[in-house]
Amino acid sequence: MGIHVAELTVNLGPRSYKIFLGNGNLADLGGLCKSLDFGKSAAVITNPKISGLYAAAAESSLSSCGFNVTRVEIPDGESYKNSETLNHIYGALIDAGLDRKSFIVALGGGVVGDISGFAASTYLRGIPFVQVPTSLLAQVDSSVGGKTGINHHLGKNLIGTFYQPRLVLIDADTLLTLPQREYLSGLAEIVKYGIVCDADFFDFLFDNKEKLVNKDTETVLAAISNSCRLKASVVENDEMEAGIRAVLNYGHTFAHAVESLTSYGEFLHGEAVSIGMVRAALLSEEKGYSTVKDTARIINLLREFNLPTGLPDFPTQAYCEVMMRDKKVRDGGINFVFNKGIGRCIIERVNDWSFLLGHL
Ligand SMILES: NC(=O)c1ccc[n+]([C@@H]2O[C@H](COP(=O)([O-])OP(=O)(O)OC[C@H]3O[C@@H](n4cnc5c(N)ncnc54)[C@H](O)[C@@H]3O)[C@@H](O)[C@H]2O)c1
Ligand SMILES: [Zn+2]
Repeated sequence: MGIHVAELTVNLGPRSYKIFLGNGNLADLGGLCKSLDFGKSAAVITNPKISGLYAAAAESSLSSCGFNVTRVEIPDGESYKNSETLNHIYGALIDAGLDRKSFIVALGGGVVGDISGFAASTYLRGIPFVQVPTSLLAQVDSSVGGKTGINHHLGKNLIGTFYQPRLVLIDADTLLTLPQREYLSGLAEIVKYGIVCDADFFDFLFDNKEKLVNKDTETVLAAISNSCRLKASVVENDEMEAGIRAVLNYGHTFAHAVESLTSYGEFLHGEAVSIGMVRAALLSEEKGYSTVKDTARIINLLREFNLPTGLPDFPTQAYCEVMMRDKKVRDGGINFVFNKGIGRCIIERVNDWSFLLGHL
């Protein structure tokens, strides 16, 4: 058995599930699935890169516990998180004869997790699924909370469901093969949790910045486990994002604008979030919700993680146009997340675009 250093529960009544976190615990996958009321057949959905690294370990654990496993590979990359790939998945599930008791294992980053979750939520009107996230972003964000989906050519994540996994298994050893740039990008979402809901966690990240950059095992585990705990508690309070869950969009208004203006080609998601969090921090300061010192601490930490902090140079009008097209804009205004100092935040409606875009 791998070493479980943390076991968390996402408490959602009948949809509750556990998050197991450790090093080398991918080998526990079969046993953990066996403890749930799944049928005999499983489909492991992954991409060729992850498949070569981790599918054999995942599948042998499942087979040794008596499951019949079919591997389904989808191409690597955000541009494949679409209906064509989804159809390929459905076809593979039908070919393999998966029934309503069968389950899906999403083995990979957020792209694999999102599309596999969506497939699980719709195939035969819903079959169980398990998240085995292998990127830092997926481990601390996308695998927990039940948002699934695909992109449409008219916009990102426009098609999706809320559908909780039955289990999340995080083997932090998988991060050893994750490219450093992807890893650092995941740290941005971790910093976000500290800023919006946990000052002590932000201090922990600040005090351990070198260890985090160098992927020190114990520190990384603590950061992942705390992030999952914080995400779980936000989701427990607002599963369908009727209100408070929106705090997790901190930094994302500008991040989405940056991603869109650069055609999703220049920045990784976490890098764009880093830039967006700096804008949010500056606007919070302008509102009087935080101090120059708070903003400086946020910027310093992001810089330590080698994350970009400056807004790319596009005309204010271009920012205005893409932000107004944001799917979160209602009646010409947007709910913006401001930080109150570090460790607390507030969601406020902003109708005055010149406030948001005033100092670009
Ligand atoms: N559902 C949610 O709540 C939620 C939240 C945030 C983001 N997302 C979605 O997540 C996606 C981004 O996720 P991501 O950043 O993981 O991107 P990704 O899935 O594209 O993974 C990034 C890259 O790293 C590779 N990779 C992953 N794990 C690896 C490993 N252990 N070793 C080597 N390479 C590895 C992948 O193959 C890919 O090339 C986006 O589609 C975004 O919309 C969803
Ligand atoms: Zn994000």
